[in-house]
Amino acid sequence: MEVIIKENYDQICDEAVGLIYKNWQEKKDLVLGLATGRSPLGVYERLIALYKKGKMDFSRVRTFNLDEYIGLSKDHPQSFAYYMEKNFFRSVNIRRVNIHQLSGTTKDIESHCREYEEKISNAGGIDIQILGIGRNGHIGFNEPSSSLASRTRVKTLTQSTIDANTPSFKNKTEVPRYCLTMGIETILDARMIILLASGKEKIEAIAKTVEGPLTASVPGSALQLHRRAKIIIDHEAARLLQRKDYYIWVYENRDKVNDFLK
Ligand code: GLP
Repeated sequence: MEVIIKENYDQICDEAVGLIYKNWQEKKDLVLGLATGRSPLGVYERLIALYKKGKMDFSRVRTFNLDEYIGLSKDHPQSFAYYMEKNFFRSVNIRRVNIHQLSGTTKDIESHCREYEEKISNAGGIDIQILGIGRNGHIGFNEPSSSLASRTRVKTLTQSTIDANTPSFKNKTEVPRYCLTMGIETILDARMIILLASGKEKIEAIAKTVEGPLTASVPGSALQLHRRAKIIIDHEAARLLQRKDYYIWVYENRDKVNDFLK
């Protein structure tokens, strides 16, 4: 796990996009795992800007979204499919056949989830999974107590997640209680994971994810098992980290280890 602490949200996004861009240069048919929420918005803005400048081409890029609300069609303004269209897909040259999303209106949830896993596997697995984190430590929609070995499936949202989501809905009764989400093990299968968090709302979730015990009660802590998980956060979200100075030193001196080997 690498913890990268930056001054602010813009710098977090710059760092994440730098990593995505570098990987895309080496593999033009990059497979990206995508997240919704506020945290990755700046990443999508920057990827769109790279595309518009002619520096990045999405024609071979493939994407898999993390999750979706059950009961919302892709045209519903609060669906994650709608979010992705509005904030990213419509502004780049990604091919429709390369976009993969869980459907909130599927009639056969079990086969749909199994097929989603198969599609990820047929694509050769996810190269980079982008993640945000919920205030209760959830990743994707894997709420606390989700099995660390879970795969794509239906989940029931906790009251705290429902409350956090309520302001985006016009009517309280419309807020979904169920969702489909990649599982924790599905997420851990990605070759690289980039988790973004900014602001004081995420202080506790980040402290528990990075320095707490590995536990299903904090799904983010499962990232401790991943060899290439990058936790990219701002100073505010990092405030409760006990080894904050150490992470900063390691990052700032990351190239120096080679000097000792010369
Ligand atoms: C939702 C999404 C998560 C996201 C989380 C945090 O629960 N399912 O994927 O990480 O919200 O969202 P935000 O980045 O807006 O804080």
